[in-house]
Amino acid sequence: ETRIFKLNEIDQAAQAIKDGQLVAFPTETVYGLGADATNEAAVKNVYLAKGRPSDNPLIVHVASIEMVERYAAEIPNSARQLMKAFWPGSLTIILKIKPGSLSKTVTGGLETVAFRYPDCQPTLDLILKAGVPIVGPSANTSGKPSPTTAQHVFHDLNGKIFGILDNGPTRVGVESTVLDLSTPQPAILRPGAVTKAQIESVIGSIDLDQHHVGTNETPKAPGMKYRHYAPGVPVAIVDPQTNWQSVNSWIAKQPSKVGVMAEKQILDAFSWPDNAVIYSLGEDVSDASAHLFAGLRFFDDQKDVASILVQGLDATGLGAAYMNRLNKSAGGKHFEAPVK
Ligand code: TXA
Ligand code: MG
Repeated sequence: ETRIFKLNEIDQAAQAIKDGQLVAFPTETVYGLGADATNEAAVKNVYLAKGRPSDNPLIVHVASIEMVERYAAEIPNSARQLMKAFWPGSLTIILKIKPGSLSKTVTGGLETVAFRYPDCQPTLDLILKAGVPIVGPSANTSGKPSPTTAQHVFHDLNGKIFGILDNGPTRVGVESTVLDLSTPQPAILRPGAVTKAQIESVIGSIDLDQHHVGTNETPKAPGMKYRHYAPGVPVAIVDPQTNWQSVNSWIAKQPSKVGVMAEKQILDAFSWPDNAVIYSLGEDVSDASAHLFAGLRFFDDQKDVASILVQGLDATGLGAAYMNRLNKSAGGKHFEAPVK
């Protein structure tokens, strides 16, 4: 059975990492599946435990810029400025790798490596006590919603990993922004809590990689080509302009239970039919982002719910990250289209 480490047991969790064990760790975004980034065998076990395809590279979590200097070929000026502005924080920066410094297993064979300096003191303590950078994909089974509590991690990975450092629910709830600075034109490969506008305020105009955000063809971030965040039940997006009365009436006509994930203001405005199973996303886009994955997991466990309708939000700022994850979990389906 996988052991749960409390916050006063970071020493033991760090020792396990040093010993080459897998220990899931909290961050401000989602829980990560940690291993010593310099231990090839341990990193291979991360892919095995998650069921993750081996061409999908891992993020390297650091607790100092000096740690980045050990493994990056160079740190361009733009990266230095962004690190100063947003680290510690939810911005992952891709740089060219110092050849031979980290194994192909970490980078999925690419000549670049993704660095993240999380805004979560227990994670930073874990890295500093282990004395090595820690790789950390989200600590879910591949394809499932990312974990925002230690219990989510336990649900997916119990028996497959040594331990989980428990810091309660994560604050942000969606994964970090992934920014590629390894090419002349910076590009956001995955939207996250650090927004495009915030990044542009520091380094000027950037691309939002449309391959990755829109379609699923040849994404620059290998992870973005796989189906993601999908609970066992079909999901459909309720677009912002939709009249929720029509959603409510539609549900009442369904023969089975329907899950509804929406903001409190919407849930409170109607009396919902008996077959509606309600999950509140809170009061604004930051609440909704924090609760999205937990809500999808809540319905995953309810086998009698036939479909889940989730409130779509304006895709700007943090809403871009929320809608990116929701689109993937819905496979692009909207409420207007028939929901199966
Ligand atoms: O918030 C987060 O970023 C969380 C927490 C645990 O830190 N981690 C996370 O890791 O979401 P993961 O592995 O689930 O997602 C990392 C994404 C993947 O889509 C991967 O393909 C991409 O970053 N990525 C990693 N290294 C890359 C590289 N060198 N070039 C392009 N994409 C890369
Ligand atoms: Mg992931």
